[in-house]
Amino acid sequence: MGSSGARVGEALPVAAGRATIVQRIREHDTVILVGETGSGKTTQVPQFLFDAGILDAHRKTMIGITQPRRVAATSLARRVASEMGCADPATLAPKHTSEKPEHVGYAVRFDDRTNRNTRIKFLTDGMLIREILGPIELPSASEPNKLRGKGALLKRYGILIIDEAHERSLRTDLVLGLVREIQRERRRRVDAGEPGALPLKVVIMSATIDAERFARFFATEQAPDVPILYVAGRQHAVRLFHTEASCEDWTDAAVRAVMQIHVTKPLGDVLVFATGQEEIESLAQSLQLFASQLDAWADAEGRTDVPGLLVRPLYAALGPAASAAVFAPTPAHTRKVVLATNIAETSITIPGVRYVVDSGLVKEKVFSPQTGVETLQVLPISQSSSVQRAGRAGREAPGECYRLYTKEAYGTLAKAPVPEIHRTELSGAALQLYALGLDPFTFGWLDPPDSALLQEAALHLAELGAIHGEAAGGGGKVVRLTPLGRQLALLPIVPSYARLLVAAAEQGPVVARQARDLVSVLSADRGVFVEPHDAERREAAERARDVFVDASGDHATLLNALYGYLAARAHAHGAHAGGGASAGARHELRMWCQTHGVHERTMRNVLAIRKQLMRICQQHGLKCDDEARGGAAARDVPRVDDDEDADTDVLIVTRGGGGAGTSAGTAGTEDYTALLQCLGQGRLSNTALRQPDGTFRRIAGGLSFKLHPSCTLHPARHGARGTSAASVQAIVFEELVLTTQAFARTVSKIEPAWLQALVNTRATSS
Ligand code: CDP
Ligand code: MG
Repeated sequence: MGSSGARVGEALPVAAGRATIVQRIREHDTVILVGETGSGKTTQVPQFLFDAGILDAHRKTMIGITQPRRVAATSLARRVASEMGCADPATLAPKHTSEKPEHVGYAVRFDDRTNRNTRIKFLTDGMLIREILGPIELPSASEPNKLRGKGALLKRYGILIIDEAHERSLRTDLVLGLVREIQRERRRRVDAGEPGALPLKVVIMSATIDAERFARFFATEQAPDVPILYVAGRQHAVRLFHTEASCEDWTDAAVRAVMQIHVTKPLGDVLVFATGQEEIESLAQSLQLFASQLDAWADAEGRTDVPGLLVRPLYAALGPAASAAVFAPTPAHTRKVVLATNIAETSITIPGVRYVVDSGLVKEKVFSPQTGVETLQVLPISQSSSVQRAGRAGREAPGECYRLYTKEAYGTLAKAPVPEIHRTELSGAALQLYALGLDPFTFGWLDPPDSALLQEAALHLAELGAIHGEAAGGGGKVVRLTPLGRQLALLPIVPSYARLLVAAAEQGPVVARQARDLVSVLSADRGVFVEPHDAERREAAERARDVFVDASGDHATLLNALYGYLAARAHAHGAHAGGGASAGARHELRMWCQTHGVHERTMRNVLAIRKQLMRICQQHGLKCDDEARGGAAARDVPRVDDDEDADTDVLIVTRGGGGAGTSAGTAGTEDYTALLQCLGQGRLSNTALRQPDGTFRRIAGGLSFKLHPSCTLHPARHGARGTSAASVQAIVFEELVLTTQAFARTVSKIEPAWLQALVNTRATSS
C-alpha cells in the first residue's frame, strides 16, 4: 500500500483529529464521529485508542468494532492487523500462538477468529447481540445452560465502536438500544463504587449526518452533552452523467458503460454498483467475454493503447480470499472493474477507483405485515445513496459517475433510505429481546418500529411456541418467554430454523441429523447448485444434478446433494489415502462437483456451518446426530495436516445404506417424510395451497404466486419425473421473490392433512 516507513494511516484525513478523538473518548462515555467514507474511521480509530492505552491492561479489556456486514468485518480486521504488524486474523486459531502479536481478531456467524490475546475485535452486530444474550460456549457441561442476559454486560469490552450507524440495519438499531442500556447500567455501578466496575465507552461512527439524533439518544441527565466530532473529508469533483432515457435492462447498460469507459477513458479503476450476487456473476461473465476479445478488437482497430481488463466481484458470499483480491493493487497497463453490491457504498473503500457506474438499484428485504411474508426485492436507491455512490469516484482524484437512470428519475428518489426496522420481519429481534427479559413493544428503540410489525412478530413467535401470553392483573396480558423460546433464542439461526431443529430432535436421531444438515444447507450464503446464466449451460447443470432429485421437492434434493458430496469426499480421501495425497483427493472431488453441477466452495461453507451447528446443538443438549456417529466420535478425530477439508465429516458420512450410497450421488434411499412434517411446524406463513388456476396461495392469505423455474417441482419438469402438477396440492417454501411476478423458491410438497394441525395452533395463539 505504498507506505514507506511512516505509519500506513498517517495520510488519511482522520489522522489530523487523532488527539481530539482520543481526548474526547477519555472525557466522555459516548462520542459520535462523523466522516466521509474512506477518511479512515474504521481502520484508524481502533488503532488510535489501542495506542493511547485507554484499555484496562490489567483486565485485558477489548475494543469491539461492530459492522453490519460480514465481509466488512473480516476484511477490515485483516487490514488493521496488517497495518499493526499483527497476525492475520483469518489464520488465527483458538490456541495457536503466532510469531506476530495476535491483537486483532474478528467474529462473524459460524467463524470466530479471536483468542485470549485479542484486544481489537471486529464483529457483526448480530454477533454482539449473541454475546449480550450470553455465552454460546459454556465453560463446562456441568454448568447448567442458563441465560445470563444482561448480567453479561459486555464486561470484556472497555470500548465499543458501533460503525456504519447511518446504515440503520435492524441489528445495528437493536445494538444501539441494548448497548445504551448496558452502558447506563455499567455507569450506575461505577458511580455506586462497585469494586471492579468499569464504564463502557461507546463510539458511534457514521458516514452521513444523523449525528444529532444519535447524540440525543445517548445523552443522559448526568451527561447531557454527547460530543459530535466531524472529520473533514477530502472529496474531489465528480462529473455526473445520466442516461437520456430510462433503460430497459440495467445489466446491458452497465456492460456497455464499462466497455465505453474502457476503450475511451484514461486509466483508473471502475466500480459498478449492482444489485446482487446473481447479477454480478452474469455481469462478470459478459465482461470476461469482452475482455477476451479486446486484443483482437484493438488489432482490428489499429489501437495500441487499450489496457487489459481485470474483473473482480465483491459481494457478501465471497470468502475472505476472494474479497481480498478486490484490494490488490491493479497491475500496470490494466484497468480493474469491481462489481459490487451496495457493500462498497460506505463500508468498504476500494482504492484506485476513478469511475463509478451506478445501477440506481439495491436488493432489499421487504416485509409486509399484511401478508406476513418477507420478499427480496430490487428497488430504487435513495438520493443520499446515489450521492454516496458517486462520491466513490472522487476519493483520490477527480472522477466520473455514470448513472444508469435519468436526471428526472433521480429527482423522484426518496431523500434517504428507509431504515430496515420499518420494512423487515422482526421475530428474531423480538425473540432476542424477550430472552433478555425486555419487551419489544416498550424497548428503548432509536426509532420504534410500527406496532403492526411487532404484532406480526409476536404472533409468529407464539405460533412457534416461543412466547406465551398470560392474563395479568387489570385485564391486561403479560407475555412470557417459554422454555422452548429460550432454547430457540440461544441458537444462532432464525427462529423457524431453530424450531425445525427442536421439532426434528423429538423425532429421533435420523430426522435430527437431516434437519441439522438441511439448516446448514439453507444457512449457506448461496445455493449449493451452480446456476449458469445462459440457457444452454443452465440446462446442462440441471441435467447434471438430476441424480439428486427427490420427488418431494427441493429440501430433500438439497440434502441428497450434500450426502452425495460427502460420499464423494469420503471416496476421494479413501482412494488417495496416506501421506501427501490430498492434492489427488482434492482434484477428484473438484471433478465430482463439476460433473454434478455442485458449487464446491458453497459445499465447503455448508460443512463449516454444519460443524459449528453440531457443536452448538451439543452445548445446548439438542440431539442432532445419528447414534452411530455420535458427537464425541465426530469431534475428537484429529485434523489432517494441511488439508482443511480432511476433517471429521469424512467419518460422519460413512453410514450404511444412507442416501450417500456408494455410487456418488444416487438419490432416493433416504426417507424424508418426517423431516418435511417438521419443516411445517410453526411456519404457517411459509405454507401454501394450490389454486384451481395452478398458482399457489398462502394458507394465511395474501398474494398468489408460482413456483420459481429453479424448483424441482416446477411444472416444466413433471414430464421427465413422471409426476404431475396436480399431485402438488400443498407446499412449504423458504422464500418468495418478487420480480415482475411473485415466485416461491426452495419448495417441497407436503400432505394437505398436515396443515390442519398448523392452522389449529395459529387459531389458539392469536
Ligand atoms: O471507515 P472509513 O470509510 O472512514 O475509512 P476506512 O475504511 O478506514 O478506509 C481508509 C482507507 O484505507 C481507504 O482509503 C481505503 O481504501 C483503505 N483500505 C485499503 O486500502 N484496504 C483495505 N482492506 C481497507 C481499507
Ligand atoms: Mg468505515
